[in-house]
Amino acid sequence: MVDLSVKIGAITLQNPVQPASGAFSWEYNDVIDLNRLGALVAKTICREPRLGNPTPRMAETEAGIIQSIGLPGKGIDYFIEHIVPEYAKFKPPLVVSCSSESIEDFAALAEELSVPDVDVIEANISCPTRNATGGNFAMHENYTRDCITAMRARTKKPLWVKLSPNAGDIVSIAKAAEDAGADALVIANTFLSLKIRTDNFRPALGNKFGGLVSPALKPIVLRMVYQVAKQVKIPIIGIGGVTKAEDVVEYMLAGASAVGIGYAGFRNPTALITIIDDLEAWCDERGIKKVTELIGAVKDQDMETDTLAAASVGI
Ligand SMILES: Cc1cc2nc3c(=O)[nH]c(=O)nc-3n(C[C@H](O)[C@H](O)[C@H](O)COP(=O)(O)O)c2cc1C
Repeated sequence: MVDLSVKIGAITLQNPVQPASGAFSWEYNDVIDLNRLGALVAKTICREPRLGNPTPRMAETEAGIIQSIGLPGKGIDYFIEHIVPEYAKFKPPLVVSCSSESIEDFAALAEELSVPDVDVIEANISCPTRNATGGNFAMHENYTRDCITAMRARTKKPLWVKLSPNAGDIVSIAKAAEDAGADALVIANTFLSLKIRTDNFRPALGNKFGGLVSPALKPIVLRMVYQVAKQVKIPIIGIGGVTKAEDVVEYMLAGASAVGIGYAGFRNPTALITIIDDLEAWCDERGIKKVTELIGAVKDQDMETDTLAAASVGI
């Protein structure tokens, strides 16, 4: 039987399938066995309690949903006291995601979240409805470098950095995060989007803009993972449009070491477990002994390297 375990820096995941931040909570344990997952990923936490964005916060489109939840939460103190212990009841490593509007506070959050039950800190520097200079730092190489450098100085925990698909040059931003001390890159957050209602001519979301999540995004994010993987040495977690085991394989072939899943888990809360089982069967049928054999195994050696015609190639 295939060995599904993967290493993300110092952290070993029993398999490469984990939930995406914000699309998951420990309460899913009522429906699926959380101990089967590669990691547990908590919703992004901010320092102060937040109500989130005005409603409606979700709207359907032909190609998935756009959402602008607005990072609601009860604040970091409540999170550490009440939510971390809920996750700590389970075996997979706990990844906690945090966001802020300033670099100083991002760094302070990294320190305060460095408690024993937390295994990884994920810097959500890519919330699409935040300002590029006010927390959505992954839109800029320099802001990314400054934010991750500041966080790195305040925590010894593994630090994963969630990048934005809305940045023009994700390769340079990924390199900046790596240079600043990131242990892994999470590619990517959601695509900034807009839906307008034709009955009242109003934007469909209370916050006007939202992030699109959809299987349709997979080819675009896959391209980003592929391009970044060619330029960095740290592991990548691919997130965007994974709905089946073959999508995990595709992301791994492009260079990801693991994947995160949001949308598919909304449609069917058992999807993550099905994908893990199917991935195991897919590997076994092909005689693959270790899933890590797939990482970066795309057969492209006889093809030209990236041309500048492709967006997001560093220039
Ligand atoms: C309802 C909802 C809430 C989300 N909240 C967060 C969040 O708090 N932090 C974050 O980093 N990403 C958040 N995301 C983005 C997901 O983590 C993920 O990047 C995105 O959904 C793309 O993956 P998917 O195509 O598998 O859904 C959210 C997505 C959804 C649908």
